[in-house]
Amino acid sequence: MTENCSQNSHKLIEKLRNSTTGIDVEYALASGETSRRIYLDSTASTLQLGVVKDVMEKYLPYYANTHTTVHFNAQLSTREFDWAHNMCLDFVDADSKEYGCFFVGSGATGGLNRIARTLSKKRPERDVVITSIMEHHSNDLPHRKNFKEVVHIPVVMTEDGMGAVDMKAMEAALEKYGERVNYVSITGVSNVTGIVNPIYDVAELAHKQGALMIVDAAQMAAHVPITMSGHDNPMRNLDMIVMSGHKIYTPSSPGVVITRKELFSGVEPDEVGGGMVDDVYTEHYLSTDNFPDREEAGTPNIAGAIALATVLYTLKSIGMDVIDKEETEIVSYAVKELNKIDDVVVYGHTNPDTCQRTGAVSINVRDMHHALTAAILNDYFNIAVRNACFCAHPYVREMVSEDLSDQMEGLTNEELEVLADLHRGMVRASFGIYNTKEDVDALARAMLEIASNKDFYQAQYTKSSGDSYSHNTFEFNSVPLFSAQHAVDNWLAS
Ligand SMILES: Cc1ncc(COP(=O)(O)O)c(C=O)c1O
Repeated sequence: MTENCSQNSHKLIEKLRNSTTGIDVEYALASGETSRRIYLDSTASTLQLGVVKDVMEKYLPYYANTHTTVHFNAQLSTREFDWAHNMCLDFVDADSKEYGCFFVGSGATGGLNRIARTLSKKRPERDVVITSIMEHHSNDLPHRKNFKEVVHIPVVMTEDGMGAVDMKAMEAALEKYGERVNYVSITGVSNVTGIVNPIYDVAELAHKQGALMIVDAAQMAAHVPITMSGHDNPMRNLDMIVMSGHKIYTPSSPGVVITRKELFSGVEPDEVGGGMVDDVYTEHYLSTDNFPDREEAGTPNIAGAIALATVLYTLKSIGMDVIDKEETEIVSYAVKELNKIDDVVVYGHTNPDTCQRTGAVSINVRDMHHALTAAILNDYFNIAVRNACFCAHPYVREMVSEDLSDQMEGLTNEELEVLADLHRGMVRASFGIYNTKEDVDALARAMLEIASNKDFYQAQYTKSSGDSYSHNTFEFNSVPLFSAQHAVDNWLAS
């Protein structure tokens, strides 16, 4: 990339930052001050980029169902919906001759369930799936439900902490299960630690054994460039990936499956209904061979798909390599700054030279419950994070146990129980294109303040039922800020 090009990309990132919907939201805090909220929960869901609002306002007057084709709105919507499919392929360098994509209702989860059901029928003789210990439950349970055996590959243990998927263990499992392996499905980027997996190396290993390579790109897509096809060594190409639109700056958009089309042909479509048939008789029906129609039964989320494609086009125009570099730097900086604080634990590999991380960092304050730390960050520092196990229980449990192993010696059962309760989860700070190093500085300052004044903060809260803490005097009331019903009442009265 030339210097001019890179400067232009940085200007566009700045423009995206400033126009993000909700970037300047303010809240009143427990201290009585009001400040701008710092959003560090993008791994759960990203905020909406301003370009989506702008483009949707222009599109919605022309909205119509794509299953109608005759009238003007329908013709326009159908063309744009086709463009949305093409953009998804283009975004991940998937050759449209070989690859296609379809939208699914509920994010990556919908896509992974569909893949598991379809491939278990398409290749029934291959009854094993290989995944890893670091997966989100959505890239684990669908395989468990549809296959005889699911193998969880560990991550590498290094002196800098737990890293990416262990390639030696992966190779050994592929050799052991051989022709029984239907596919390998691993995450591109961990939703807990932001650790980036060597997906193309895994693809090469999987393909050697005739297994397919699937990437859960729910966390990867917004942060790291993806190349599905066109590798010099075709063994490194990916067979399928899934993405979640709401994690790529587009709330209300669907999930996406991008796949080699051939893998969805010759099996009965998993979902049936309108739009996926050539003809229907009372005795039987004929599913269409057209892809993606055969995988998109019912009326798709047309506007959401177009909105998502708008973002993919925007990110691609800026350059995913520029975004990748910038976001990797932010997470490396976060790991470095948080690691300096006594009594703050940073989970996962901490050396950016040997383990790339992007998007997220998970931490704890020693001897403080993760839910309490998250509540303090919110109520006193206006920093929005998530806590607990992030739908990745085995991975979180393993990292927490690894960290606590030194401290457990000599403790009574009661003390062990207290320790385990405090650390049965983590606090996750996660980042999007709109976050800056200043946001990391604010987080590091807040964590230092909390870790230095545990007793003060602890005394301000009471543990309520389950894993949550309520402030003793401060209460947040969201209703005056927004209530859909009130907004409608005001509209009706105006
Ligand atoms: C790595 C990963 N995979 C899958 C999912 C599931 O995504 P969704 O809830 O959009 O279906 C998530 C959600 O956090 C995730 O982080």
